[in-house]
Amino acid sequence: MPSSAPAPQRVRNRFRTKARQFDDLYEDEGLVVRLLRPGLFRRRQLAVDTVGSYEAPRVLDVGCGSGRIGEFVLDAGASRYLGVDFAEPMIELARERLERFGERVELITGDFLAVPLEGSFDVVLALGLFDYLPNADDFVRRMFELCAPGGSIVGSFPAWSPIKGPARKVRYEWIGDCPIFNYTRDGLVRMFSGTGFDRVEVLSPGRSGFLLHARRA
Ligand SMILES: C[S@@+](CC[C@H](N)C(=O)[O-])C[C@H]1O[C@@H](n2cnc3c(N)ncnc32)[C@H](O)[C@@H]1O
Repeated sequence: MPSSAPAPQRVRNRFRTKARQFDDLYEDEGLVVRLLRPGLFRRRQLAVDTVGSYEAPRVLDVGCGSGRIGEFVLDAGASRYLGVDFAEPMIELARERLERFGERVELITGDFLAVPLEGSFDVVLALGLFDYLPNADDFVRRMFELCAPGGSIVGSFPAWSPIKGPARKVRYEWIGDCPIFNYTRDGLVRMFSGTGFDRVEVLSPGRSGFLLHARRA
């Protein structure tokens, strides 16, 4: 049964205890994993393509996890990569993985809504993050503030599906004590356009989720 702890605390606990397990999901890029978890690799590809469409962009990765996507976007030409995550073990893994990129990388441990963050960014990434946010609008507002004019945001969002929906609910909320949230295409367009983002494109690559790309004019 879910505990009575506030949602962000339950999410942080999950990623504190499951950092290595989450990181291992990326380890095997074989056909079976790609078939079972296509969203993981599609969202990484959209991040890499978006970063590659800018000249030496500054990238903010919100909920950067273990730096798996960071590694790819740095290889794709990011001039600065700032990763923020509130689960310390995730940041530790990211630190080891991204060490070779030296001063281009900065990692901050803390809640995205609470930590002081400097600068503005050409690409803001929010991948695998919105699944766990009870207050998604607050996150989108802060991402907008940190996005440079002409910059892009790339996010992934789960959608309710009759098969995966109940299974995820039981696995995450009932067994794992971790809240999860679903999104609709219309709701995403409203949320991002309403915050000020322009050209909001919602791609629906699978039955269980959306990828979104929007720009700040
Ligand atoms: C599923 S992981 C995704 C990691 C990475 N973006 C990826 O796609 O590989 C979600 C991450 O978001 C982090 N997170 C969730 N809510 C957060 C918040 N309010 N502030 C900072 N990090 C948060 C979690 O700790 C976790 O590491």
